[in-house]
Amino acid sequence: MTRDDTDDSDDSSTEFDTPALLSDGGTAAGEDDVALDPWGSATVSDYRKLFEEFGIEEFDGVLPSVPNPHYLMRRGVIFGNRGYRRVAEAMRNGEPFAALSGFMPTGEPHIGHKLVFDELIWHQQQGGDTYGLIADLEAHSARGLSWAEIDQHSRDYLLSLLALGFDAEEGTLYRQSENRELQDLSFELGSKANFSEFQSIYGFDGETNVSHVQSVVTQMADILYPQLDEPKPTVIPVGPDQDPHVRLARDLAVRMRFFGVTKAYASFELDEEERELVAELYRTLDPADFDDDSLRCVHVAQALDGMTPDELGVDAETVASAKAKLDEAGMEPVRPRVRFLDRNATEEAFDALIGAIDGEKRVFDEHIDAFDLTREEAEELAREVEMENDGYGFIMPSSIYHRFMTGLTGGKMSSSVPASHISLMDDPEDGYDKVKSATTGGRETAELQREKGGKADECPVYELYAYLLSGDDDEFATKVYEECVGGERLCGGCKEQAAELMKEFLEEHQEKREEAEELLEELDIQLKSSRR
Ligand code: TRP
Ligand code: SF4
Repeated sequence: MTRDDTDDSDDSSTEFDTPALLSDGGTAAGEDDVALDPWGSATVSDYRKLFEEFGIEEFDGVLPSVPNPHYLMRRGVIFGNRGYRRVAEAMRNGEPFAALSGFMPTGEPHIGHKLVFDELIWHQQQGGDTYGLIADLEAHSARGLSWAEIDQHSRDYLLSLLALGFDAEEGTLYRQSENRELQDLSFELGSKANFSEFQSIYGFDGETNVSHVQSVVTQMADILYPQLDEPKPTVIPVGPDQDPHVRLARDLAVRMRFFGVTKAYASFELDEEERELVAELYRTLDPADFDDDSLRCVHVAQALDGMTPDELGVDAETVASAKAKLDEAGMEPVRPRVRFLDRNATEEAFDALIGAIDGEKRVFDEHIDAFDLTREEAEELAREVEMENDGYGFIMPSSIYHRFMTGLTGGKMSSSVPASHISLMDDPEDGYDKVKSATTGGRETAELQREKGGKADECPVYELYAYLLSGDDDEFATKVYEECVGGERLCGGCKEQAAELMKEFLEEHQEKREEAEELLEELDIQLKSSRR
């Protein structure tokens, strides 16, 4: 999948740094897989690979531009993003933005889901238009749950989301199966994707059931749903397993656009690397050095002749292909311009765009070159004309990624292994017991622990403190960490404290769940599916 020109994600990602309070040794025992599979059970053992192999950007790169960052951001639990800068900017400038995430109702909501609930609620409190959806179609088609089971679990997710503070009057909650507008959008998006793409992204094959395929298109619609009324920066808070969905949705957002906007230097098309090369030469060559004081394509080609790919910092192939194109264009002057490419525009929209471009322009069959517009002006104009002509004008959705919690028994936290997780509906005493019997990063003996300190970075109990039990109190989280690694804290007492806090949290949460029952009944959301 290519990064498109309308990709407004920033490219200012910095070198990998160990995030505050959580090092990347924070996941359990040596699994080495980085496959991102939305329906698999893979864990992520090395978050660095997600940056290198999948192009997820580090959250640290955008953190300074986030106003009052959430503690999950400050502590490095939220470690990655795609294009979040744009959302942060909207937040800072008081402009509209949205947040959306979805929950597959396949079991009880647990403390891992709480991360996403909290992320949504935080964005809502920052002024975002916030959506929480129940992915019931996905649960039915990809996991085979019955509608009765789905109804039960959906209720449980919604109650916890409300209990944690989601404002249902300000925000939107929906079930995929009940949302007709969503279905319509999903149908439109489906026309821009094909099956072989699904094969390569998701490993679908001839045995994949068709409704499962449909549920993916539905998720694409979920992700773009907040933009149905008007385009706005949107963040999708999820675990990194959902990244394939995010990438596809970002692609589809672009494919739906009427016009693409790129920069060009002459009448012909350059690919991204060629364009950068020509841009660089345009910046450095002096027109005064050439015949009639103007820089022509052949001149740039000649300049390329005198330099090695190494000097230019690009591969030989790019140099050769750029040179061939420049030679072919001969005496055509090199002049920077923005180019509007016709992707899905109707004829009326294309004509409307021509009319709307100020200044010098040149109209071709499938594109228009404009000489007096900046790239930003051009992007804005393209979106305006699209919207005036019944297009959606989607902005590429952004995402943020949180680390998976380690299971209390080590390994993956899994809904199907009760001892590995704490359900938000667990009896508080059971929650207490689970913490008490959790694996730790402690040493074999107390003496050794005092001498060498505990391994907080590998400790599921420390994760509980960092992800949940410390709440907004960074000082407390830091204190636990430092006392642990400094050997002042021993696991027995540490677990006792965590278990107490967990019990209190569960008691309080469950009270709030009860209070939320009433709210839930008032919501405009079908609690009992009419499906069978
Ligand atoms: N596929 C997600 C999961 O497995 C659920 C989901 C559906 C979702 N639609 C979404 C997540 C839109 C984020 C955004 O949990
Ligand atoms: Fe984990 Fe606490 Fe033991 Fe440190 S002292 S290893 S944080 S249980």
